[in-house]
Amino acid sequence: MNETPESLTIRRPDDWHVHLRDGEVLAAVTTYTARQFARAIVMPNLAPPVTGVEAAIAYRDRILAAVPEGAAFTPLMTAYLTDATDPDEIARGYEEGVFTAAKLYPANATTNSAHGVSDVANIRSVLERMAAIGMPLCIHGEVTDADIDIFDREKAFISRVLEPLLLSLPDLKVIFEHITTADAVQFVTSADSNVAATITPQHLHINRNAMLVGGIRPHAYCLPVAKRERHRIALREAATSGSAKFFLGTDSAPHARDAKESACGCAGIFNAPFALESYLEVFEDEGALANFEGFASEHGPRFYGLAPNEERITLERTGTQVPDEIDAGGTPIVPFHAGETLRWAIRA
Ligand code: DOR
Ligand code: ZN
Repeated sequence: MNETPESLTIRRPDDWHVHLRDGEVLAAVTTYTARQFARAIVMPNLAPPVTGVEAAIAYRDRILAAVPEGAAFTPLMTAYLTDATDPDEIARGYEEGVFTAAKLYPANATTNSAHGVSDVANIRSVLERMAAIGMPLCIHGEVTDADIDIFDREKAFISRVLEPLLLSLPDLKVIFEHITTADAVQFVTSADSNVAATITPQHLHINRNAMLVGGIRPHAYCLPVAKRERHRIALREAATSGSAKFFLGTDSAPHARDAKESACGCAGIFNAPFALESYLEVFEDEGALANFEGFASEHGPRFYGLAPNEERITLERTGTQVPDEIDAGGTPIVPFHAGETLRWAIRA
């Protein structure tokens, strides 16, 4: 491929990890995701969380009602696992086509995860059933143990939870979500083909300095938190390598400006409005434009056992000016790359 093309046409991508929220912001937030992606794995960490089949159907209906006229967008729903999850409910939701996957949040690891799982032993029967029926498990891979430094929480999760889990359930389909470390890249690379990972745009663009140099910058704060530069480099190599184990998952996680700019600011980066433009810069800078379609549009559906999208989109080198703030149904939200100009734009 010519490495400085003026445009790039690829299969329409999907987002394998997004927070669409609910209520007043849902319509605005969904509109941005539906503009970029054909499908998205929708995270269930609402308050209260989406734990059962009926709640997921109702949430899916609210999302579909928010999709703008003329847009084709399919939300793929997930079940929020708790210590009390019933394996029959999860299996029923999967078999009825309501749940595409289930999400494991370690209790208190992140936003609205208080009802998450306090010990994977407590959901053993759920995980066994998921392995038996081939249902994918999306994992927020951080321990919450007080003895582990926050920058080491992902690495500790691998040895304390993920390795033992996969040794005991070697067929379980696992997506290690939003990986942030060279350790996770290494783990996923050497695991069997039933283990994959999503990578966000922010973890490809920023390291932890973005959060802390020159003042505390709450809009660069998300969980798992960005790590050292060597980890960012490892993530860029993995994402752009062409390996089918790595695919696009934005973890777009909008919070109101004042909830971020606070003495105890929320974790989450709202990257949905310009996610593809953001990822594409990384692939171009790494000289890997030829691998962009695989990462954005092919590896995810292949892992989930779904057909890739037939529709095409074109990105052009016309530039995108990212606004300082976005009005999401009356709620001001600061997007990722606020105030920057990105090189690419999606052709309307
Ligand atoms: O930064 C994050 N925000 N990480 C998560 O795991 C959850 C998300 C949210 O829902 O705000
Ligand atoms: Zn998330």
